[in-house]
Amino acid sequence: MKVQRVIMDINNIVNNLTTEYIGRNIRWFKSLDSTNSEAKRNTDMPDGTLFIADTQTNGRGRLGREWASQEGEGVFMSLLLKPDIKPEEASKVTLIAGIAAVRAIGIDCGIKWPNDIVIGTKKVCGILTEMSMRNIICGIGINVNNQSFDEDLSDKATSMRLESGKEFKREDIIRNFINEFEPLYKQFLEKGIASVMDMYRVLCVTIGRDVTVIYPDRKFDAKAVDVNENGELIVEVNGEKKSVSSGEVSVRGLFGYI
Ligand code: BTN
Repeated sequence: MKVQRVIMDINNIVNNLTTEYIGRNIRWFKSLDSTNSEAKRNTDMPDGTLFIADTQTNGRGRLGREWASQEGEGVFMSLLLKPDIKPEEASKVTLIAGIAAVRAIGIDCGIKWPNDIVIGTKKVCGILTEMSMRNIICGIGINVNNQSFDEDLSDKATSMRLESGKEFKREDIIRNFINEFEPLYKQFLEKGIASVMDMYRVLCVTIGRDVTVIYPDRKFDAKAVDVNENGELIVEVNGEKKSVSSGEVSVRGLFGYI
């Protein structure tokens, strides 16, 4: 028997938006390969356009991983952004999206550096920021109403519903995210990333933990001590501080996912 899914009502997002241009143009799809890929194919659309899909057939995560995208259960969305910044600044948008996602999710969550939103020891949201020509595409996946996960994910993934016992309207989460994102993003463009980093640090659960830093060809154990103004994780190894940038690295707690 086919399970009846709740279809999103875009008016529920639009009606209570407080933004100037983020999310003011919304493209909704029943199914897409990936909202990030759709944004890349449509970079002629206005700054702040939001692409949303009910499901993705090729949802993509960081480091070439897959992003499970069950129909109607999660939020799968990508923002097309056209800021006048250097390409190397693009990854900083991820930090801002992380803060906005924590606020939009609203359940007691934190950020596992660089951009996994976690509740307790499990991931509830992931962010994938990509460049396409001079555009930034910031993709956000949130596990909202999932009631279970495949065996390979169940020890490290959770959903808002599993954590709270409540069902959520995905439109509310999307609208809250957009409304939270825009002021932070404007602050970043006007005053630089340093002006929002204190908010990020407060939410970052990686700081203070013993971690394993995993590169494609090597790994080492360290203590995470800070995140600097460039969004790099500062780790201490044998009393020496090193900075780790998010491009190719994965960080695991010594005793589990966090
Ligand atoms: C990660 O944690 O690995 C990042 C996951 C990002 C998933 C989102 S879902 C919407 C957008 N479209 C994609 O294909 N990926 C991002």
